[in-house]
Amino acid sequence: MRQRTFSAAPIAIRHLSCRIDNGPVAHLVERVVRNDEVRGSSPLRSTTVPILPIFTFDHTVLRQETSQVEQDSADLQKLIKNMIGTMRNADGLGLAANQVGRSLALTVIDLKHVPGMEDRDSLVLINPALTGTEGESVFEEGCLSLPGIREEIVRPAEIGVKFLDRNLKEVEIEADKILARVIQHEIDHLHGKYFIDYLSPFKLSLLRPKLSRMSRGETDTDYPLAPPEPHHTKPKSKVKRLRGM
Ligand code: NI
Repeated sequence: MRQRTFSAAPIAIRHLSCRIDNGPVAHLVERVVRNDEVRGSSPLRSTTVPILPIFTFDHTVLRQETSQVEQDSADLQKLIKNMIGTMRNADGLGLAANQVGRSLALTVIDLKHVPGMEDRDSLVLINPALTGTEGESVFEEGCLSLPGIREEIVRPAEIGVKFLDRNLKEVEIEADKILARVIQHEIDHLHGKYFIDYLSPFKLSLLRPKLSRMSRGETDTDYPLAPPEPHHTKPKSKVKRLRGM
């Protein structure tokens, strides 16, 4: 991702962190752990904005670097609104624009699902870039574009991140715990990466049957998915290894 220069942007929010005692493994990344009671009564599920179909696994748009957002527009604001509605409809913690088929460096995060931050609104990150990382933590991650797959992934525990908010105002924050985890997961999407790219070839091989079904559009979800691409009906055989953050 092209680094955007911010001129000594102030730390607007220090340690915008949740207060969860997350031990070695937490289970809240990108997808809220379901529970019928919450689902049936959740005021967060939107019925007033269009719900966009979510692209999955080997859709080309999810493997491409996204483009930087250069200017505000009615289309951008509509996309943000629709992404927030789509994320909430799927009980997601976060959603990247390329997960709804738009190759833009834009992601939304629903803070209402982050313990200790329920009174906050959604976080919109445009052209986000990490400014620093510290420590290490293990979380079990899931992804709206990889339904039914959850794996423990090691990532930095604390991050600094700069971005433009929904009004295209420069912001820089520090985050830890779940929020740091979700932000890193979403920024990876914007670079065409999935959390499964961090798995060993052996662990990835165990997921092949699920991924193959996903490629063929045979995955069952309770939120709408985009139809599979005809020319991407089989998973790639070569595993792209990442160096880590
Ligand atoms: Ni994801």
